[in-house]
Amino acid sequence: MKINENFLKIQSSYLFSNIAKKVNAYVKENPERTVIRLGIGDVTRPLAPAVIKAMEKAVSEMADEKTFRGYPPEYGHDWLLTAINTNDYLSRGVKLDNSEIFVSDGAKSDCGNIGDIFSVDNKVAVCDPVYPVYVDTNVMSGRAGDFESNSWTNIVYMPCTEENGFLPEIPKEKVDIIYLCFPNNPTGMAITKDELKKWVDYANANDSVILYDSAYEAYITEDNVPHSIYEIEGAKTCAIEFRSFSKTAGFTGVRCGYTVVPHELVRGNVEINALWARRQATKFNGVSYITQRGAEACFTEEGKKQIREIIAYYQKNARTIYEGLKDCGFTVYGAKNSPYVWLKTPEKMRSWDFFDLLLNEIQVVGTPGQGFGPSGEGYFRLTAFGSAENTDKAVARIKEYFCK
Ligand code: MLT
Repeated sequence: MKINENFLKIQSSYLFSNIAKKVNAYVKENPERTVIRLGIGDVTRPLAPAVIKAMEKAVSEMADEKTFRGYPPEYGHDWLLTAINTNDYLSRGVKLDNSEIFVSDGAKSDCGNIGDIFSVDNKVAVCDPVYPVYVDTNVMSGRAGDFESNSWTNIVYMPCTEENGFLPEIPKEKVDIIYLCFPNNPTGMAITKDELKKWVDYANANDSVILYDSAYEAYITEDNVPHSIYEIEGAKTCAIEFRSFSKTAGFTGVRCGYTVVPHELVRGNVEINALWARRQATKFNGVSYITQRGAEACFTEEGKKQIREIIAYYQKNARTIYEGLKDCGFTVYGAKNSPYVWLKTPEKMRSWDFFDLLLNEIQVVGTPGQGFGPSGEGYFRLTAFGSAENTDKAVARIKEYFCK
């Protein structure tokens, strides 16, 4: 018997578990201090009333023999697929067939699982800094090589720095799988339609596949920023898109997302859609009826209005953090199209040192940029997903400590 030795190569703990452990230890030692958590991007507003109403009704249906349901369809109920299709795509001029949409328990799982359908020999490119799931899951499947001098030998890192406006540059060597996340986690920066078109053209010309994570699209405020990669001509032949109800409708604890795999995406004469359908049918048993009814309610007029208000609440927090830190002399990015604020640590402090300083001195938790990759060193991420009260308090504490 042999274990999958790739797991031995990886850091023993996932970034956000590591942070949670550190914070919990601090809280245990300092029970009298109030810690404000703006680290992991976890929402704090309750679910929209329209979602709750729909889920309660679904619970009642499950309690009645006549309306009880067993296994859900593995790719999602057709009414939810239609609601997604109409509201998230058709409304933006993107025509999809419901069979191109796969409802799941969230974008994180899909981003992690998608590697199942691609050869381990593919060359993977990621932005740096990057959401750790893309890299870690490639390490687990043996696609990343070895960890040497702070990076994986077989992964192409595309630095996103102040110099390039935090936008990746097209790699010089040919890459097969390209992970893009816009609006970006962690930098909070967005990509314009023109810039994204360059990636679509590259992928089509090089037979690459773009794995496009648009979990934060609901935070976009600028018109020239695409919500979906399929708003870009040519994207259907080269891109898979991941979407989530987590950051949009507060589903981090409920769990629901979806992945779009267009039929036009063909590699080696094989429709990628068929591979993902096969993978999901075998390894995933669908999202619960109750959750899918909750997700469907996000697209009712009432639901849309309530969700817009929740997003506006977090957008206000993002501006509070951004403006507050800027006033205090910090160099800050993001926030405009995103719930994340990406800041430069003062005096080139290492990001984990800055994490310790904030935790120990003012009890504010953020995420060290270095945890997202080598180019994240010297940066720090704060999320807008806290309560408005805690966000104000955290900014006041930062100002009091640093604006002397
Ligand atoms: C984050 O903090 O980066 C997100 O919460 C991660 C996630 O959505 O899984």
